[in-house]
Amino acid sequence: MTTKSLRVLVLTCSTRPGALGPAVGGWLTDTLAPVAKELDVDLVPLAVGDLDLPFLDEEEHPATGVHRHEHTRRWSRIVAEADGFVFVTPEYNYGMPATLKNALDYLGPEWAWKPAGFVSYGHTSAGTRAVQHAKQVVTTLRLVPLGSTVAIRITDAMRDDRFTPDARHAEAAEGLLAELVRVAHALTPMREPRHADAMPGPLPGSYVRPLGPDDAAEVTVLQRCCWLEEALVNDTLGIPALHETLEDVRAWLAEWDVTGLWRDGRLLGMVRTRRDGDDLHVGRLAVVPDLRGLGVGRWLLALAESAAEGCRRVLLTTGAASHRNLAVYQRQGYAVLPDPRDDGAVDLGKVVTP
Ligand SMILES: Cc1cc2nc3c(=O)[nH]c(=O)nc-3n(C[C@H](O)[C@H](O)[C@H](O)COP(=O)(O)O)c2cc1C
Repeated sequence: MTTKSLRVLVLTCSTRPGALGPAVGGWLTDTLAPVAKELDVDLVPLAVGDLDLPFLDEEEHPATGVHRHEHTRRWSRIVAEADGFVFVTPEYNYGMPATLKNALDYLGPEWAWKPAGFVSYGHTSAGTRAVQHAKQVVTTLRLVPLGSTVAIRITDAMRDDRFTPDARHAEAAEGLLAELVRVAHALTPMREPRHADAMPGPLPGSYVRPLGPDDAAEVTVLQRCCWLEEALVNDTLGIPALHETLEDVRAWLAEWDVTGLWRDGRLLGMVRTRRDGDDLHVGRLAVVPDLRGLGVGRWLLALAESAAEGCRRVLLTTGAASHRNLAVYQRQGYAVLPDPRDDGAVDLGKVVTP
């Protein structure tokens, strides 16, 4: 769950002396500045010529991520940090310029699952054949080309030797940026970095990984949603999971061993454990409401119990009126502990068999 601005690279692709490209790129960034602000987009103008990229001179395939040259490493950082791209491209001989193809070829995973918009210019075709050519190439890199385009016929846009496109081009450019933002957000789950410590989860496409303080926003949402039912059946709002702040959650995420179950960027469930002498405390076992009854909770509980090696007991707590939870825990071998609590909750324990 991110609240940072989207970073959109506006890449001017022509490099020849006296090229029209810089004027097109300048018009585009000036035109889009107000709407970019409204859409919380950082537009980053850049010219391919300023990257000093020779014809691809890396030994390894770009998919390996092994970049030997400093110019490649710099280009890799720029592309990796971007959330989307607008390519400002001329049409050369019915295709994209070699400069754009070369800049694309340099990298691999850095481009993946990010939207690509095109602003083209040329003579009768307004650069559209270059865009069609580029679209065919960028999909191989898992860039996602937008349907919206801005295609400018040079003769329509030149007034007194100045590049001055009319209002419909500005409108088209704004529409392109708006579409780019929507697609960039929709693709965010596809871009979620693969965590080295992720393991397959119990549902197709799901995985588990340790949660830390950076996951506090998702955890706060999940626990408020899940413990609302507990509040209703136990007729109390005095449940910590319901009123913990983001900072509280951040703090316990740093102290407990917490595992989260994810799919497509959504936190589906979690459980936390902490050893205390001979006991393993298990808590915050939660599964999103729409995936209950599929055995996900039991799977997470078994995962938590796998940390009990060397412990005498596994302990957990639930509401005294949470009959569904109590039944699940009792089926898994837990028994209600004799010592009563005075907060409407019950403690359960299970002896660990060595
Ligand atoms: C090598 C080359 C090939 C070109 N091929 C085409 C073409 O296929 N279609 C077209 O509409 N214009 C073509 N043009 C004309 C360009 O659209 C026009 O020169 C434009 O200004 C090029 O962009 P630039 O000034 O940013 O390099 C070509 C220009 C060059 C230099």
